[in-house]
Amino acid sequence: MSMSLIQALPKAELHLHIEGTLTPSRMMALAKKHNISLPYVTLEDIQAAYQFDDLQSFLNLYYQGADVLREEEDFFQLMWDYLLVCKEENIVHTEIMFDPQTHTNRGVGFDVFMPGFLSAIRKAKREWGQSTKLIMSFLRDLTEAQAFDTLDASMPYLADIEAVGLDSAEKANPPEKFRKVFAKAKSLGLKRVAHAGEEGPAEYIWGAINELNVARIDHGVRATEDNVLLRFLREHQIPLTVCPLSNIKLNVFDKMDQHNILSLLNDGLCVTVNSDDPSYFGGYLNQNYKELQHHLDATDDQIVQLIKNSFLASFLAPDEKEYWL
Ligand code: HPA
Ligand code: ZN
Repeated sequence: MSMSLIQALPKAELHLHIEGTLTPSRMMALAKKHNISLPYVTLEDIQAAYQFDDLQSFLNLYYQGADVLREEEDFFQLMWDYLLVCKEENIVHTEIMFDPQTHTNRGVGFDVFMPGFLSAIRKAKREWGQSTKLIMSFLRDLTEAQAFDTLDASMPYLADIEAVGLDSAEKANPPEKFRKVFAKAKSLGLKRVAHAGEEGPAEYIWGAINELNVARIDHGVRATEDNVLLRFLREHQIPLTVCPLSNIKLNVFDKMDQHNILSLLNDGLCVTVNSDDPSYFGGYLNQNYKELQHHLDATDDQIVQLIKNSFLASFLAPDEKEYWL
């Protein structure tokens, strides 16, 4: 299948951190606007700095980058930049994660970032019918009490939040640490997702399912370490939102030709393709699909199945899914 066909097929994206879409040029412009000195002079300096050893080395730059986001307008621009990419790439539906604590920890509140996000989302909906949902992610290296504070602060915006998620440093921060706050989120009518089995063990995928009651797993590629888990994921069709370029950049796999996404697909699991943090990992959604063709010889049928899965695994209503399938 040519790039133009990947480009042309309507797709959904389900694993995307809005803070990870901050482009180097937008970062430079916002740093200038707010008189923030960056450790970079040129765009090339930024590109050169984006070489990561593991998840933590990425997170350090990701949190540092987010510091240029200070005012409502900045968050509007951040969201708008990404939604324009959705239009360009034919991502007709996107479920976007945001990390409130990355901002509230710096004194930037919900009343700053939420209106910025929502006005961009509404403008894209008006202008070309862009479909979006928001997923509020808790930082798992912080405490459950801080996650509860975040959930409380989100109350005025609950109608615009579809689900809660769990991200940041996975190792030594197992899902069960957040059991109570996820139960509270469920009681408020929020759906649940969690990063698990990216750097952490397969056991954390079980934890996300059994302790947090998640509808899908973000990443989940380490499921292959547990055959009982693989069977469970297949039987229950619990989706995995896999991010190929991210996994290579963060050394979850050494090279793309070693990635297990197609073997998971061939095993009958509901796997999807996503870009995670495209500005840091070197490609938006279509590039992630393209990598699978180039390095794993993905067939047209496999690409089409992955795209169908992106809608099946989404939080769209059954009739909305039906429209795209
Ligand atoms: N994993 C964990 N935390 C994150 C990621 C990720 O891939 N992206 C942004 N925060
Ligand atoms: Zn992620």
